[in-house]
Amino acid sequence: MKTIPEVILNELTTYGQSHLLKFWDEINPAQQKDLVAEIAAIDWSIIGELISGKSSDTSNLVDVAAMQPPVAVRSDGEGVSWTIQDAIEAGEKALSAGEVAAVMVAGGQGTRLGFKHPKGMYPIGPISGRSLFQVFADRLRAINRRYEVEVPLYLMTSEATHAETLRYFSDHEYLGLSPSSVRIFKQGTMPAIDATTGRCLLSSKSSLALSPDGHGGTLAALENSGSLNDARLRGIKHLAYIQVDNPLAQLCDPALLGHHLLAKSEMTTQVVKKRYPLERVGNVVRVGDRVHIVEYSDLPESIAQQTGSDGELRFWAGNIAVHILDLHFLDRCLGQVTALPFHRALKAVEHLDAEGAQVKPDEPNAIKFERFIFDLLPRAENALVVEAKPELAFAPVKNATGSEVDTPELAKQAICKLHRQWLRGAGVKVDETTKIEINPRFALDPSEVATRTHDLMHIAEDRYFDCESPEKLSNLH
Ligand code: UTP
Repeated sequence: MKTIPEVILNELTTYGQSHLLKFWDEINPAQQKDLVAEIAAIDWSIIGELISGKSSDTSNLVDVAAMQPPVAVRSDGEGVSWTIQDAIEAGEKALSAGEVAAVMVAGGQGTRLGFKHPKGMYPIGPISGRSLFQVFADRLRAINRRYEVEVPLYLMTSEATHAETLRYFSDHEYLGLSPSSVRIFKQGTMPAIDATTGRCLLSSKSSLALSPDGHGGTLAALENSGSLNDARLRGIKHLAYIQVDNPLAQLCDPALLGHHLLAKSEMTTQVVKKRYPLERVGNVVRVGDRVHIVEYSDLPESIAQQTGSDGELRFWAGNIAVHILDLHFLDRCLGQVTALPFHRALKAVEHLDAEGAQVKPDEPNAIKFERFIFDLLPRAENALVVEAKPELAFAPVKNATGSEVDTPELAKQAICKLHRQWLRGAGVKVDETTKIEINPRFALDPSEVATRTHDLMHIAEDRYFDCESPEKLSNLH
């Protein structure tokens, strides 16, 4: 390629971004082709609006004065007219009818964790060393077996994680899932913009400084990859959404699905009680009859500290990014351009300066744009909030070993603690110091543990319950 395609040139000129071609004559034809492809993939009218401030992320901003605690199904089942058992039955019916698909987002760059592969490959199994991807694949296999279905998995990656994730799945025989029911697709990217000039940054002479467009990119990526259509063809009605970095996420949990169904909700979100007022999680709140999530950074401290007459935090509900979304709701949102606004974040972004020298800024220099999936909540009719106990549902893997919170070590401890409890609930004596890990294909929940451990009396050593038969187990105590 010698000449610059005219359409590219015109577009960049219109939006004041022609500097992106400054090094055109210094790069080879293959690099020129790559650069053109990157530029062509960007919706410049959106970038133009974001830079000019015409399109802002204020459309979903919450009026703090109007904020109320959310109406929620509490973890003991309080708050609705039906019982947890009713919900489980409704959820199980939808699962058995093949109406549920799983969506897992795994496109993040995992910067804080500092793991050099996609986060989904992180070995989180406390004893087995199974990866996060494997943990969820095992859960889906157990669900498939129990409900005699094949729940499709829509797995979102990004430019940063796609190739390695694909290779990982194909090298490991799709982790035991049927390849025809797994779709792995990339989310979109957004260019980083110089915070002072509004110009897009180059990361090299032939590429832009791009980053994933946030987990809110899921909607467009599901549609553009044909996954929503696949779901429609399969007769799917509900999408169970999780993030890959929470090994306790109860993917396709029948109770959560059932609450969603019984409330006729279009989008349901699972929350946990915040541990302390300023915890760095999104706050799930109500404004009128709408559910919103307010970022911890946007919640005034005085409001975060408020308590009710029972001494509990007034704004108690923390987002754990586990949602149920109806397909018809997503179809409706696809037609609404403003459904998912872009949020701005000021970040330090490596780039080339005007002379082509690499710059590694210490201070934030650029604006990155991201969408958040939870911005769909206020759009949903009958949006529902369901509380889970954190020890059953939330152990995020965010930070590197040695940090105070959300580390792999803490997540592993949480897994062991939960599985020790499951065994104790089944009447097995378990020493407190033992590590216990239960593969969902051995038992998906405490009641299944009870049916599979009749002959087990006492566990005094670390034990991984793989997928062994109960006969084999009886020899283990
Ligand atoms: P986080 O916002 O915690 O980001 O993503 P991260 O990439 O895991 O970690 P940091 O912030 O770089 O340290 C929460 C979840 O959303 C997914 C991530 O893969 C993770 O499962 N995600 C995030 C995406 O799929 N795409 C994105 O653009 C952002």
